[in-house]
Amino acid sequence: MESKFKRTLVTCALPYANGPVHIGHLAGVYVPADIYVRYLRMRGEDVLYICGSDEHGVPITIKAKKEGVTPQDIVDRYHRIIKDAFTGLGINFDIYSRTSSDVHERNASAFFRRLYDEGKFITKESEQYYDTEAKTFLADRYITGTCPKCGNPGAYGDQCEKCGSTLSPEELIDPKSALSGSAPIKKKTTHWYLPLDKYEPWLREWILESHKEWKTNVYGQCKSWLDGGLQPRAVSRDLDWGVPVPVEGAEGKVLYVWFDAPIGYISNTQELLPQSWEKWWKSEDTRLVHFIGKDNIVFHCIVFPSMLKADGGYILPDNVPANEFLNLEGDKISTSRGWAVWAHEYLRDFPGQQDVLRYVLCANAPETKDNDFTWKDFQQRNNSELVAVLGNFVNRAVVLTGKYFGGLVPEDLGSEAIDAETLAQILPCRKALEQYMETFHFREALKEAMNIARIGNKYISDTEPWKVAKTDMNRTASILRTCLQICADLAIAFEPFLPFTAEKLRGILRVGINAGKDHRSGEGAPTVNFYAPSEACALHTGEAASQDIVLGWDDLGRSDLLPAGHALGEPVLLFSKIEDAPIQAQIDKLAAIKAARQAAEAAKAAEEAARKVEPAKDEISFDDFARMDIRTATVLAAERVPKTDKLLKLTIDTGLDTRTIVSGIAEYYSPEDMVGKQICILANLAPRAIRGIVSQGMILMAKQGDGKMRFITPAEVVANGAVIS
Ligand code: MF3
Ligand code: ZN
Repeated sequence: MESKFKRTLVTCALPYANGPVHIGHLAGVYVPADIYVRYLRMRGEDVLYICGSDEHGVPITIKAKKEGVTPQDIVDRYHRIIKDAFTGLGINFDIYSRTSSDVHERNASAFFRRLYDEGKFITKESEQYYDTEAKTFLADRYITGTCPKCGNPGAYGDQCEKCGSTLSPEELIDPKSALSGSAPIKKKTTHWYLPLDKYEPWLREWILESHKEWKTNVYGQCKSWLDGGLQPRAVSRDLDWGVPVPVEGAEGKVLYVWFDAPIGYISNTQELLPQSWEKWWKSEDTRLVHFIGKDNIVFHCIVFPSMLKADGGYILPDNVPANEFLNLEGDKISTSRGWAVWAHEYLRDFPGQQDVLRYVLCANAPETKDNDFTWKDFQQRNNSELVAVLGNFVNRAVVLTGKYFGGLVPEDLGSEAIDAETLAQILPCRKALEQYMETFHFREALKEAMNIARIGNKYISDTEPWKVAKTDMNRTASILRTCLQICADLAIAFEPFLPFTAEKLRGILRVGINAGKDHRSGEGAPTVNFYAPSEACALHTGEAASQDIVLGWDDLGRSDLLPAGHALGEPVLLFSKIEDAPIQAQIDKLAAIKAARQAAEAAKAAEEAARKVEPAKDEISFDDFARMDIRTATVLAAERVPKTDKLLKLTIDTGLDTRTIVSGIAEYYSPEDMVGKQICILANLAPRAIRGIVSQGMILMAKQGDGKMRFITPAEVVANGAVIS
């Protein structure tokens, strides 16, 4: 790989520590980044791989408040879960730290202070909502009210989750503080702003002219932001969770989370490499690549670069390969609504199947458009691609070699043209794979790796060594030898994508691999990832392995990777079929989540409907009122009106007489409920026949917004016929 760079710094968006990581995060950011890093390292590049938890911001404080714990408790909990999930999936950052670290607090604070001292910020006074009971300014998320667009009464000051509109708190109808429930007031506050408008000409040149190679979704979003005109952006907030603004008189103010979080990339590098971090951030020889999701584009392409530019001492990203979103079973993934497949739960539910998820998420990655994850597709890809193609090919090659040649790589005793022709197809796959990798097209790159398995599968099916073995052992030797060469190619090609499987395969083939260097040990010599053949597979009995074979990326496509006589290990299955039951269990789990959510939504809607109050009626005179003869009465008897659902026929004692009233309350009261009850009636309503029964008057009922009715009864029993006035 010819390049003007000496090293590559790969960062992955720092996940918010307010929930676990889910498949949307994995498919959009972490799986592609991991594939890329592993690939570059195999190619001998010096790569530093940085991530960590993003532990500030309002959602974390809200969650803490809801649970009655501290924000630190929340981030401690999720930092652990997220970190372990990454490790479990083979996503091994050189460092996975956190923005609540001391190193970060110092670094972010110093970063702000440098820009502050150099006059890079402007200050602005604005009016913001303030909760007078809680005595605090309210972040947009802390204000709820009615959405002006769709009427949802539970919209937030930044967004309506019902209709998806982006809002500002000023737009909310009837704003309320989520802290105290009181109506907030407007109060003046001062903040620091990065005047992005000043960077606009430079950004236009830098992105629109010099980075036309960026992915179209990324370039397009940048262009539309730039064309829309940039405004100064506040870099501080009134909040008590975050990095304090290091300026006198800024009590109660912290750095805005989107200001401090990307600085976390630098802090985490400093934490890992306190002596040598600068060469990764301040040398033009370093290539910086940010892996992110599409909701992060503006921050990584416009805001953070402007911060770096304002400082002047840092390099800028060379590329920002952002992905679109992954949906789950047709619905948007949502941490708050619980609609997700969580990485840590997957690892628990599908132990040992890390690579299946890595495979499916890469094969289905939302690289150019939003994509959908379904459990059926997951099962299908495992069973008909991993098991049926890759696993099946390797297994047939290795088992037959065991059967006919005692597990030793056979000699080329009966070659035919098809052997060389087949092996010659592999190098083009490698070239295409490299091309795709280097342009961040990981789905296509994976297809090329899979093509090598398909080539092998087709070859073994076409040549049928199990049949040839009955008549021609020399030919059989050549066929299996060819197959085993392809297996070795697969062990190389799949290392970036399916590291656990590649390791198993190395055990079966008894080969090592040079997977490059990482920086997990921090300062000092990088760790060399020379993986010896895994001991997982016992060697074939009585045979010694030939001198150690160590494969590297450049061996991919060569046809002599395994010498004749090399002893293989015992075959183990690379993949196993996933049956319907575990898939159904996952589908059922999602269905339960959806049902619970729908029930909660329905309950909430019903509650809102009940509270809906009918508009006031027109004014009347006292005389109008006095004309109504409202009295107390007692129900003597009650029965349903036959063939109706709603009507009860009541016999009542009005003090004046005993009469019949037909009332539409059967939905709410059974006849037994009514007998003996004291009620109020309108006694002088003109009689009216209902279902052939003459109803003489009306029972007074209170009717809620949702239609629910309750009869009116005096606070204490009074004589029948008492006039209500
Ligand atoms: N926590 C953010 C998110 O999940 C990403 C932060 S990326 C960083 O969307 F650059 F700010 F660190
Ligand atoms: Zn709305």
